[in-house]
Parts: sequence; C-alpha cells; structure tokens
Amino acid sequence: MSARPSVLVARRIFPDIVQRLREHFEVEEPLDDEPLPQPELIRRLQGKVGLFATGTELIDATLLQACPDLRAVCLMTVGYNNVDLAACAARGVVVTNAPDVLTETTADFGFALLLAAARRVTEAEHYLRAGRWKQWNIDLLAGADVHGSTLGVLGMGRIGQAIARRAALGFGMRVIYHNRSRLAPELEAPLGAQWVDKTELLRRADHLIIVVPYTPAAHHLIGAPELALMKPSATLVNIARGGVVDDAALAEALAAGRLAAAGLDVFEGEPQLNPALLALSNVVLTPHIASASIATRRAMCNLAVDNLIAALTGGQVLTPVGP
Ligand code: DGY
Repeated sequence: MSARPSVLVARRIFPDIVQRLREHFEVEEPLDDEPLPQPELIRRLQGKVGLFATGTELIDATLLQACPDLRAVCLMTVGYNNVDLAACAARGVVVTNAPDVLTETTADFGFALLLAAARRVTEAEHYLRAGRWKQWNIDLLAGADVHGSTLGVLGMGRIGQAIARRAALGFGMRVIYHNRSRLAPELEAPLGAQWVDKTELLRRADHLIIVVPYTPAAHHLIGAPELALMKPSATLVNIARGGVVDDAALAEALAAGRLAAAGLDVFEGEPQLNPALLALSNVVLTPHIASASIATRRAMCNLAVDNLIAALTGGQVLTPVGP
C-alpha cells in the first residue's frame, strides 16, 4: 500500500488541477460528471483521508461516521452550507472553503443580473429572436435605470462590498445596506454606504442584491411580507443561495406586478426550479454560475488544493471554516 495520503475528488475538475494533487497524493477522480449520491460518496471515501469537495456533496454526521479515516474536507466554493461544521469539528475533520478568489467575479455577475433584469435584456433578446420586433414603440421593452438609483445590499461581506464599489464608483448609485454588523467607517466612507435596518432597506431600495450566506436563520429571509415592503418598480437579485428567498412568494409578486423584475442565479431545490418562475418574462434565470469565469474557477480549485496539501502534510491551512 502507498505511503502517500489518498484523496477523493468529488466532481470533475480541470485536469491540471488533478495533476497538482497527484504530485502529493494518491488521487481518485470521478468516473463521470454526475453528483455523487451520499452512499456512493461514502463508498469511494473508504480509506481516503482527504476530500476535494464542491458545494453539492452533503458532508454530515452520517458520512463522517461512515468515513473514519477522513481528516480534511477542502471545498472549492466559498459557501459551505452543505457541510455540518459542528460534526466535522467533533471528529477533528478540518474544513476549508475558498473565499476571496471569487469575490470580484461574483460581484461582476451580480451586476450583470441587475442590469439584465432592470433593463430587460434577456426578455428583449427573446422578443427579438421570436420575430416579434416589427416596429419602434415609445415604451418598447422600457425598463428601470440602474445608474443614479438606490442600491440595497443585503449582506455586506466581501462580495457585498465589491458590489457596492461597482454601484457607487461605476454607476453613481446611492448604496444602503443591511448586515448584522456595520462596516468600519473607513470602509463605508468611500462608498457613501449607509447601514439601515432591514425594513428601511426593503422600502428604499430601487434595486436589491442579496448576498448573505445561507444558514437556517437566513431561510426565507425574503418572503411575502418582505416583498410587500419593496417598491413595485424594484428589481431583486439573488446570488446568495437558494432558500434565502421564498421563490414561490417571489414568483407571485413578479406575476402580480408587485415587483418589477428579478435576476436569480440560485434557487430553492436547485437544479430544480419552481415552475412558476419559468413562466415569467420579467425574471432573468441563470444556473448558479456567478463565480464561473475560467480564471476564477481555476483559482478556487487551486486554493482547495493548497488547503488539502497543508491539511494533510502538517501545514497550516489557508482558509479554515469552523462552527
Ligand atoms: C460558492 O462558491 O459558494 C458559489 O456559490 C459557487 O458554488
């Protein structure tokens, strides 16, 4: 048997990243590009000390109990709501995520969704492709301005701040935000960002971008009562996690004209979608790709590899997460 630690790569990743892993470990790669159901994941993890994971594997007490050799779970995502951190800590399993490297790319995408939804970009393209463009009209596919408007940011972590920078410095927007803790004055000042309570955020925002991590407390943070506080002309963008927004309530508000538009990259129960969303033209839908530039996905993978190497060769992991 090899003296090198054995690791499992949960999903297909870039071949040269696997090669990096092979320089340090015995590596088992997935046979295809399908998510592994937990029993199969457990089977493949037997005898492995490390897991290169994504946001789709469920790492809970059941798995940990069935995989007693496991010492490190290194995620290539920033979100880690698929991992039971307390159960990992109880078994001494190191968990790491991949923050920072995806911040700017994800903020770009949040803005792309905001612009696309507010200015009806995808709706306009569908209209044109369907051969419906016959003449000029004064209000043909007219939407809402983004520049100069008020942006509400719900969740002012790294990605929220990167979005606020784009808004304030690139689009001349007023930035209001809600977060458990206020930013330090030296971070607020250059953005002119103002902390407000959640109700004021919802009432005042012309456009709302949601960037909070998913936790049980964040489940349906935006539901029917919250949507009712928003301006009917407002746009809502969710690049956080499915479940933070009540998708059924959102679809109802969009269908009833109680909210103008939405841009959604994440969904409750994804990759399944609430069918009511698919029937609407005033929502831009993307398949959880906010961090998906080639360079950033590579950087996320490389950070997970750096963490696995550190965790399994006696080094200091770079980006640990704990309960
Ligand atoms: C993350 O890193 O958490 C993004 O949502 C990509 O999955």
